[in-house]
Amino acid sequence: MSDPKRELAEIAHDLGEWLRLDQEKGRRGLPVTAPPPGTPAPPASEAQGSTSAAPSARGSATTKPTVPAKAAASRAKASSRPAASAPAASAKTTAASASRGKKLDKIELEPITAAYTASLESLKVLGEEASTCKNCGLCETRNKVVFSSGTARTKVMFVGEAPGADEDRQGLPFVGRAGKLLDQIIDAVGFDREEIYVANILKCRPPNNRDPKPEEIEACTPYLEQQIELVKPRIICALGRFAGQFLTDQPKASMGSLRGKVAKYKDGTPVLPIYHPAALLRNPNWKRVVWEDVQILRQEYLRLRDQG
Ligand code: URA
Repeated sequence: MSDPKRELAEIAHDLGEWLRLDQEKGRRGLPVTAPPPGTPAPPASEAQGSTSAAPSARGSATTKPTVPAKAAASRAKASSRPAASAPAASAKTTAASASRGKKLDKIELEPITAAYTASLESLKVLGEEASTCKNCGLCETRNKVVFSSGTARTKVMFVGEAPGADEDRQGLPFVGRAGKLLDQIIDAVGFDREEIYVANILKCRPPNNRDPKPEEIEACTPYLEQQIELVKPRIICALGRFAGQFLTDQPKASMGSLRGKVAKYKDGTPVLPIYHPAALLRNPNWKRVVWEDVQILRQEYLRLRDQG
């Protein structure tokens, strides 16, 4: 039986070590390559070859949560969002050359304007609405609804799959083992957990951490859609297959085909799917792949930031 703390420490150590080596070589990011030879095929539950479908991003919910009127102001702000990123095919090379040698300081935060305050108020109302949601059967078994963590002033959003046992107890996303690993990944890449916004596809824990059901995704994702609309991230990192499929509207895509490629959310926001941190706990051989993918996230973020 492996020691989870040691496993986490080893994964975190490797990530830090790769960063150090890259910095020594004078690069801010690794060149993007195919997964290293010998990388085993991901299991069907998490990744490649899996064809289990998530409903279309455009699917309608049974009861679409309402967005309060104050969200109108933030919608206006949304329409002034800068143009979406370059096409996925060219994103890797452009991002790599554009960001090379640049230092990633703090993620810039949205100034506290009237529009931002209105968005924040709308998010608060939405979170309150979610806290009593009965749109699917998970309301029967959940302990706490897990709406979000982090700051809505951010430009970088992470979206996971669904709360686990720890998250269900605490009402916060990614606070368990996978969360610790997510912290390490975020830290190693130069972001700060307090400077990002984290949410999930499902706001309630599926019993025994089973996969989300299509009808649960359909019932719950209107909350996420509105979170994205109100936060207006510059880039979204999709953690795992369910987030990757939903956010890129590729309901049948395998994780192997989604990961490491910048795609677009339906409103044009760039989305980068990466393996879920829990997958790394199961398969530490994917550390390198995840490391390479988060470098793309970093490079894309810098490119979009510099583009204004
Ligand atoms: N896994 C997820 O996808 N989300 C969480 O919040 C925790 C674990």
